[in-house]
Amino acid sequence: MAEVVLENVNKSYGNVMACRDINLTVKDREFMVLVGPSGCGKSTSLRMIAGLEDLTSGQIRIDGKVVNDVQPKDRDIAMVFQSYALYPHMSVYENMAFSLKLRKFPKDEVKRRVNDAANLLSINSFLDRKPKELSGGECQRVAVGRAIVRNPKVFLFDEPLSNLDAKLRVAMRNELKKIHAQLQATIVYVTHDQLEAMTMGDRIAVMKDGIIHQIADPITIYEKPVNKFVASFVGTPAMNFMEGSLIEKKGGIYFDEEHFQVRLDESSFERMKPYIGKEVIMGVRPEDITDKLYAANVTPDNVFTATVELMEPLGSHYYLYCTTGKSPFIANVDTQTQVEVNQDIEFSINMEKVHIFEHDEAGNNNRLN
Ligand SMILES: Nc1ncnc2c1ncn2[C@@H]1O[C@H](COP(=O)(O)OP(=O)(O)OP(=O)(O)O)[C@@H](O)[C@H]1O
Ligand SMILES: [Mg+2]
Repeated sequence: MAEVVLENVNKSYGNVMACRDINLTVKDREFMVLVGPSGCGKSTSLRMIAGLEDLTSGQIRIDGKVVNDVQPKDRDIAMVFQSYALYPHMSVYENMAFSLKLRKFPKDEVKRRVNDAANLLSINSFLDRKPKELSGGECQRVAVGRAIVRNPKVFLFDEPLSNLDAKLRVAMRNELKKIHAQLQATIVYVTHDQLEAMTMGDRIAVMKDGIIHQIADPITIYEKPVNKFVASFVGTPAMNFMEGSLIEKKGGIYFDEEHFQVRLDESSFERMKPYIGKEVIMGVRPEDITDKLYAANVTPDNVFTATVELMEPLGSHYYLYCTTGKSPFIANVDTQTQVEVNQDIEFSINMEKVHIFEHDEAGNNNRLN
């Protein structure tokens, strides 16, 4: 059992609040990703779990034990940094064996563990090389190997792939997932890359300004973001946001953008009733706006017209950059769509997939539906 629990954790540096009231339970063997824009407090959270930073207040427990006052070396965690931090004068083997030797492991045991990790990571052919004789991806593997040999209760990763090129990053992403499955370890993984978070995490904690806004599995984060920030952070191209108001019409509730009106899904009527007459923001992902000609379930109440300003052909589909005259948005349409720049086109919105957020001066913009 290696559960990691952060309870009411706060961290301030002078008057900078790096982490505010963090409550997070990473379950045993879970792959938890902390994701958010630069400066949101991801590394600080991870460093507090590692014991490299003191808490200003709150409690951290690893495996049921309060570790606030436990030294990093006694926490049974291993951390992998973005910089790899390999010892340049040591061979790959020595780099991986170092922490075990420090802990006075028997020679046979050191050898066995280094070889096992090297096999798992496919780095056994260059155990004699020095770090400068390795590529970035290979260095990354050695850094991971150095953590694996320790057989820790918890792995902590801080942006371990950000120094790699795009293709290698995808390959390492998959490899780390496979390794996680084999090691059955608890992992807390920090990244600012939403795609990395979505593809790797069992669950994701989305942070901004030192606050965790949502903790959920990737699909829930994508389909039911709790507020406009989470909605905009996850997904490429980002979710479209249109300002308007809710009105009651023909026994239903409609979103009125001024240039068009669309009827909200029946299932949300009860929850939306209190907001009739109020300003709201409708969020729609590009893939939920399609060419009316090829859309399923077209009704008079889910279509609108817009002007195409730019077309981005991606081979399998187009991104159409459009405007209603008031709201700019991106639609993801099939290549069979016949349209040109400056032409009008009729779209259909999948109303089951729209997100309604409060129009809030304070910027919270919580999800309403
Ligand atoms: N030692 C420090 N002294 C003062 N302020 C700090 C210190 N470390 C971090 N901060 C501040 O705390 C906030 C959170 O920093 P943190 O490093 O946790 O961000 P992050 O989410 O990891 O960002 P990035 O994606 O850029 O790595 C930032 O505003 C940062 O400037
Ligand atoms: Mg960081």
